[in-house]
Amino acid sequence: MLDGKRILLIVPGGIAAYKSLELARLLGRAGVRVLAILTEAGAKFVTPLSLAAITGEKVYSDLFSLTDESEMGHIRLAREADLIVVTPATADILAKMAHGIANDLATTALLASDKPVMAAPAMNVRMWEHPATRANMETLAARGVRIVGPGAGELACGEMGEGRLAEVEDILAAITDFFASGQPLTGRHAIVTSGPTHEPLDPVRFIGNRSSGKQGHAIATALAGLGARTTLISGPVAEPDPPGVETVHTETAIEMRDAVRAALPADIAVMAAAVADWRAKEPAPTKIKKGEGEAPKLELVENPDILAEISRSGNARPGLVIGFAAETENVVANGAAKREAKGCDWIVANDVSAAGGVFGSDKNTVHLIRAGATEDWPAMTKTEVATRLADAIAAHFAAAS
Ligand code: CTP
Repeated sequence: MLDGKRILLIVPGGIAAYKSLELARLLGRAGVRVLAILTEAGAKFVTPLSLAAITGEKVYSDLFSLTDESEMGHIRLAREADLIVVTPATADILAKMAHGIANDLATTALLASDKPVMAAPAMNVRMWEHPATRANMETLAARGVRIVGPGAGELACGEMGEGRLAEVEDILAAITDFFASGQPLTGRHAIVTSGPTHEPLDPVRFIGNRSSGKQGHAIATALAGLGARTTLISGPVAEPDPPGVETVHTETAIEMRDAVRAALPADIAVMAAAVADWRAKEPAPTKIKKGEGEAPKLELVENPDILAEISRSGNARPGLVIGFAAETENVVANGAAKREAKGCDWIVANDVSAAGGVFGSDKNTVHLIRAGATEDWPAMTKTEVATRLADAIAAHFAAAS
């Protein structure tokens, strides 16, 4: 499974850095070619010589070394790897990864790379629990970085709690799993819609809604992380375009519908956008002015239902069509009715009542409704919902083939 793979091992400065030597040894024994980058702080804990002896390769550490640049620059180091493993991932390197800081070879290689990244965090429990680290971990997970551990127990600083580097065997198992099943959706095409639509009333005003696009964007990231070629069709949102995903920007429901049609054929369609149900029949060509008689009356017409259309698109229908149901009451019953009415395969029903607090928030409580079976998922982050949904999609295709 691991034989012939290439891993770029990044070893930052943490007390658990010595365990990277054991990981490198086990990887080498499994047939992996390990190239290592040792940060300046990492070299205070393990020597370049011991890492070079174990990997049988030159160890890289200096961004500005001219000979290294000509032999193998940071771009090439990152490009040639099948997987980048950061261990022990200190609070410092995780923060730099989350914020795109590139001030040494390790962080520059990480920023210059579009390869999958795995990080095994290790730090003091208070650093791990600090809101800054929590936010960085959420950012990294949303970007598809695979996190292994940390474990709980006695820490090097003498305190007890979470923050211990995962066992080397567990990191090895995560790497093996990644290569065994990390890309189960390779060869499949997924279309995801996300965010709101804006329906113009005049050149400056529109009808819209509170959707942030966080859930749809997280789903696109998770599907791409499982190897699917992913087209994200996004309404106007503040979320950045996810890396590794082709993002098409749209404004109105009609533009979104046209972009979905243009992206077909697909194996998977996840319609997570909060599409406006109505648009102005005739948007005013110039700004509507106040103080010119009565308040204007809006005449609305219904927008096309993209989910219903794609569910009934005959030969062009994707193999698995998934809709979302935003409900404020009787969430499961209304979700199940919507599944039937729209003709999709699965519905992810969520409570968007004020008490649910979903819009714009990082959390979501959902129910996955399929024909004859409903799963109630516990409250989790939108990234976790996305990961779990992508795993369920992969399991669906694995069972079908
Ligand atoms: N949807 C769509 N096109 C529309 C309206 C909705 O593709 N014009 C999709 C959404 O992306 C979502 C699902 O349909 O996957 C359900 O959307 P929701 O707003 O919850 O339901 P509605 O169909 O709008 O029904 P209602 O507003 O009556 O609850």
